[in-house]
Amino acid sequence: MPKKEEKKADNKMEKIISLAKRRGFVFPGSEIYGGLANSWDFGPLGHLLKQNIKKAWWKFFVQERSDMVPLDTAIIMNPKVWEASGHLKNFSDPLVDCKSCKKRFRADHLLDARAAEPGYNKEKPIDWKKIKCPDCGGELTEVRNFNLMFKTFMGPVEDAASVVYLRPETAGGMFVNFKNIQGVTRRRLPFGIAQIGKNFRNEITPGNFIFRTREFEIGEFEYFIHPNAWEKTFEMWLGEIKRWWKDIMQVNLDNLVWREIPDGERAHYSKRTVDIEYKYPFGVKELHGIAYRTDFDLKRHQEVSGQDISYTDPETGEKFLPHIIEPTFGIERMLLVTLLEAYHEEDAPTAEEGETEKRVVMKFPRYLAPIQVAILPLSKKKELSTVAEDLANSLRKDFMIDYDETQSIGKRYRRQDEIGTPYCVTVDFESLEDKAVTVRDRDTMAQERVKMDELIGYLKEKLGC
Ligand code: GAP
Repeated sequence: MPKKEEKKADNKMEKIISLAKRRGFVFPGSEIYGGLANSWDFGPLGHLLKQNIKKAWWKFFVQERSDMVPLDTAIIMNPKVWEASGHLKNFSDPLVDCKSCKKRFRADHLLDARAAEPGYNKEKPIDWKKIKCPDCGGELTEVRNFNLMFKTFMGPVEDAASVVYLRPETAGGMFVNFKNIQGVTRRRLPFGIAQIGKNFRNEITPGNFIFRTREFEIGEFEYFIHPNAWEKTFEMWLGEIKRWWKDIMQVNLDNLVWREIPDGERAHYSKRTVDIEYKYPFGVKELHGIAYRTDFDLKRHQEVSGQDISYTDPETGEKFLPHIIEPTFGIERMLLVTLLEAYHEEDAPTAEEGETEKRVVMKFPRYLAPIQVAILPLSKKKELSTVAEDLANSLRKDFMIDYDETQSIGKRYRRQDEIGTPYCVTVDFESLEDKAVTVRDRDTMAQERVKMDELIGYLKEKLGC
């Protein structure tokens, strides 16, 4: 990236991180104790935004479909689950330490950085010994593998028999419940099992704000199919994922990169994987993915558990282990993309005729906005605030409301723009006479007079809820 663009990009991340903290989207974790490296807490607005993203995801991928069933499984599972899935043996990253400054790095990231250097010759193998610590130039240790699962003990005795792990992905819970779910729901293939939940990975190099953290949520589903349907099902899900980003998340599709993972780079069990990458200010990196996992998972769980978890087709009588297509989405990465896409700086008119000032406006899709409607009485006088408070209370059943009566109306509009509130409702002295209020649109800044008793219907239509 040219230097000037790099600076601009850093600047955007800095602005997002600063806004996120200042306005209560994301706080550094355990801040009053000096923080805990790369842990983050979601503040009032961040929590609401995350909830809205999860709700939209659930509605689109689960609720609106007839072929999906929900699930919510335990974070701590029998360690045999991780033996069967291969996580105990293979869920590791290559690690190197700097012998001088003692910093740790992912060896593959250092190689990626080297490969991105100008003049890099892809045909010539990289001499690992020539790679030095990117921070101090010191010599690096040999590469060793580091398992990313967080370990703990179950019960009072801390011995080898009581070791358990915090789940590194939600998928395991869905594989081991396939038989239960198919039995109780009597579903026929194809059908999917979906869940959203917390996951834990002891990442060697977390960073880039909430992009890579050690605890994060995944929304994913396992879609069970007959093996001969995998190609068309994969295409169907790719289409649905495109629809998700275009219509629901309203992302600029030019910012997405659909990367077909070539042979040799895919996980050993996958016959096809597409990573959906995003052009973050810090580079093009994974946002989420979709993989055809064959029957690897059910086969392994059948082998290790000794239970028959096969499926019998009620029409043909064919008995087989279903194959799986797995679309998976990191919730925090979707939230980061939502913040990046929403951030705009624009000129806005001030109260002074012909003058403008800069406004920061978060143009969230309306149904994702943490606060949907702000009620702003023009004055703090009791006669106005009584009407405005009653109005706010009448709207709370349907919308997330903010009530703000401090400072000038211009400043209050700017505050609401900065948190992405789609509609500001101003109650003024005329409202006492005409029983109407002024509704201001976040994006166009256009204002419209609406009768108070028609306000709920008006806002519902505008917000698409
Ligand atoms: N069951 C498949 C699975 O877990 P994954 O690619 O390892 O796949 C799924 O993880 C998604 O979780 C990723 O595509 C990414 O969006 C998100 N993710 C993975 N590691 C993460 C981390 N350390 N911090 C934040 N999000 C992460």
